[in-house]
Amino acid sequence: MAEELIVKGESKQERYATLFPQLQTLMSAEDDLIANMANLCACLRDTFHFWWVGFYRVYGEELLLGPFQGPLACTRIAKGRGVCGSAWQQERCIIVPDVEQFPGHIACSSASRSEIVLPLFKDNKILAVLDIDSEYLNHFDETDCYWLEKILALL
Ligand code: SME
Repeated sequence: MAEELIVKGESKQERYATLFPQLQTLMSAEDDLIANMANLCACLRDTFHFWWVGFYRVYGEELLLGPFQGPLACTRIAKGRGVCGSAWQQERCIIVPDVEQFPGHIACSSASRSEIVLPLFKDNKILAVLDIDSEYLNHFDETDCYWLEKILALL
């Protein structure tokens, strides 16, 4: 297994495109979901220098903090609460250009300004959500949604 990622390009599209095949190789070499979630967070943060990247796993009627990279975060989020609980309830990718404009946003870190959350589906069920925070406004768009959905399908 390669120990170092080689990611090229200036644009996020180019960087996702060079990261993706390396993640494919990495994820196909391991079956354990938690181990793969952990490496995925590390690779995404390394590549894009996001403020916070992590998973919340579905645990009964709540989301429970899973593998992540970044500052400490809140541990439990109820269904429908915050961006994470909303993405889970609505079963879709949610892009928040400005967290202050999202009613009910849960501020784990005051440095976070924009956010993207995507559900992780397995056999048509949501197992977890991937949450990424940026300290910049308007950091995420459809390119992130497209590639992150493809990346989550590797798990
Ligand atoms: N902001 C999220 C909570 C999780 S932290 O950002 C890590 C939300 O509103 O669901």
